[in-house]
Amino acid sequence: MENKKISIASDHAGISLKELVSEHLSREGHEIINHGTFNNDSVDYPDYAKKVTDDIISKVSDFGILICGTGQGMAITANKQIGIRAALCYEPEIAELSRSHNDCNVLTLGARFIDSNVAIECILKFINTPFEGGRHQDRIDKI
Ligand code: RB5
Repeated sequence: MENKKISIASDHAGISLKELVSEHLSREGHEIINHGTFNNDSVDYPDYAKKVTDDIISKVSDFGILICGTGQGMAITANKQIGIRAALCYEPEIAELSRSHNDCNVLTLGARFIDSNVAIECILKFINTPFEGGRHQDRIDKI
């Protein structure tokens, strides 16, 4: 599989999962930009979502990964930015379809509700699945 450039961030609730998946992706040869958070102090997830979505908008990275307790706050925040399509995923097939049908560029994960191995499977499906285009592009154009 082709190596990707991936920006990642979490709040305090997602830091352990963020570090675990970052190390896994680095070992697989992907380039990771880690925007924090870097300790267990309570922080506000919108501040971290923006660091990653800015990288996607400016084409610094191919994909973004955002992790908080539920994945919801990160998804809500990321999807406010024009050009971002963020998908909250909890099983690999959802991650795959969010790429093939929705051309999502950001994956969000709920660290308090997902097994770390399933999270890694979701990420690998997400970064390795191409967008199908065609009728799906027509629908995205209507968003
Ligand atoms: C933090 O306690 C929690 O609210 C946050 O991580 C996230 O789940 C919000 O959507």
